Amino acid sequence: MSLADAELTTDGSGAPAGTPRHRINVEGAAASFTCAEDVAVLIAMERAGVRAIPVGCRGGGCGFCRVRVLSGRYVTGRMSREHVAEADERAGYALACRLYPRGALELALATEVAAARRVLRAGGRESMQD
Ligand code: FES
Repeated sequence: MSLADAELTTDGSGAPAGTPRHRINVEGAAASFTCAEDVAVLIAMERAGVRAIPVGCRGGGCGFCRVRVLSGRYVTGRMSREHVAEADERAGYALACRLYPRGALELALATEVAAARRVLRAGGRESMQD
């Protein structure tokens, strides 16, 4: 882990002082944000005022915040198997409201809405796969 990837918490974000924070980038988003290891990525995003991942129940049940981790280390809390099957989880899919970084993360949205946006940006030529 480099100093660029982790900082000690000093910004009053709610994480205890000394909790490592990590840079979170979401593919296609205008801004990145930092997230402490004991705060869910979705919550850190909201606290930072960034709108990069759809927000729903914040409790692991609706699937709105489904992402795919493209790179980086992380752990997850309990997630609905309706939205993240075991095979999906092994492939890097997670719910951002149950995702806790252990290093800098690169994320991609993995919802049907995100797939539809990619199709629209591509002028309708891209398939609906995520
Ligand atoms: S916001 Fe509902 S599952 Fe994450």
